[in-house]
Amino acid sequence: MNKPSYGIDAPNVVFNLLVFSFVALLLTGLSFYFDKPVWLILYFSAISLSLFCTGCWLIYSTKVAKPRLLARLVEELHLQGDEKILDIGCGRGMLLIEAAKRIQTGKVCGIDLWSRKDQSGNSMDKTLSNAQLEKVDDRIEVQTADMRSIPYPDSSFDVVVSNLAIHNVPGEAGRLQALSEIMRVLKPGGSFLLLDIHYAKQYAQILKEKTQTISLEPIYKYCPTLRVLKGTKK
Ligand SMILES: C[S@@+](CC[C@H](N)C(=O)[O-])C[C@H]1O[C@@H](n2cnc3c(N)ncnc32)[C@H](O)[C@@H]1O
Repeated sequence: MNKPSYGIDAPNVVFNLLVFSFVALLLTGLSFYFDKPVWLILYFSAISLSLFCTGCWLIYSTKVAKPRLLARLVEELHLQGDEKILDIGCGRGMLLIEAAKRIQTGKVCGIDLWSRKDQSGNSMDKTLSNAQLEKVDDRIEVQTADMRSIPYPDSSFDVVVSNLAIHNVPGEAGRLQALSEIMRVLKPGGSFLLLDIHYAKQYAQILKEKTQTISLEPIYKYCPTLRVLKGTKK
């Protein structure tokens, strides 16, 4: 039977790390073969090992740590089952589907630009097929849209979530625009759960005025360190 598959985040970075690790390994072997000084052999082998470990850690983060973390965080949202939820930059749907599993009469919408640089094999069809395989396709809706211009009216969602997506928007002004769009489509009293590797502290600072409670939890197990920003709109 077909299984859902969620791809690898930042596939080019992972590929480059593994290729350069192999090159450094080759240089270690050549240095050894040509009787180069021990410090040079150790230098190349240390580089090779550290690049290889970082590449593996990135794969582990996407494939193992991410599903576990998202399951825990969605559980902590204590959904009633009738919420309207929006996933910003949903990609192949891991967070979207995790939320959809916990609702009955509500709906989970996802928007994305389907960048394959940000996630391998990224496409709307892949997200829809994953939702079908997870048997939540009747509760989800996805569309192509930029988070700087979210195609939903003001106060349409009870919950807005986003994982590893906002940092992909180039420039501070663009990210500010995305945050302001998130606040616009969120109902007063609605919750947000935003995970990101860069700029999360800045998001917390910017959202402080418009939100009631805000917490910023670092996840050091993730490569690179991920920060979880949670709050409620005033
Ligand atoms: C690393 S992937 C994460 C996908 C998904 N949230 C997950 O956890 O599997 C980042 C996603 O952000 C999307 N993205 C990047 N810029 C975007 C933008 N301006 N508007 C909407 N989505 C965007 C990419 O296409 C990609 O699917």
